[in-house]
Amino acid sequence: MEKFIWTKKYSVGIDSIDEQHKHFFEIANSLVETALNDAATKEELVALLGSLGDYAFYHLNTEEKYFDELHYPDAQTHTEEHNRYREQVKKFLDSLENQEADTKKLAKEAAIYSGNWLFHHILLVDKKYTEFFQGHNVK
Ligand SMILES: [Fe+2]
Repeated sequence: MEKFIWTKKYSVGIDSIDEQHKHFFEIANSLVETALNDAATKEELVALLGSLGDYAFYHLNTEEKYFDELHYPDAQTHTEEHNRYREQVKKFLDSLENQEADTKKLAKEAAIYSGNWLFHHILLVDKKYTEFFQGHNVK
């Protein structure tokens, strides 16, 4: 199974945000790994997906706080993208709660969805704020 690896091409030019993106990928990687481990329990998977969701939401909120504070012109479209991801994570969490669910399959799907979502989101959406954030001295 391939891992989500952050490389320079994913840098948004803001160190603190790059660090958050790297951490997001790390959690997605451990969720995939755990989902592939036969010994993993449903409780572990639910907990890990919960932490991926919590961290993802914390990260998206960090960006949105800057949008608000700095009156970022593209805030609305960008936040809508975040909301689509939030909804998807909630769906995964709801499905995992279902007793009949194939927990490992779902957890793996959720992790892969999240990692791929972030890869695309960084390149297509986040990178648009680089100049604006740097111009407002976000570090
Ligand atoms: Fe974003």
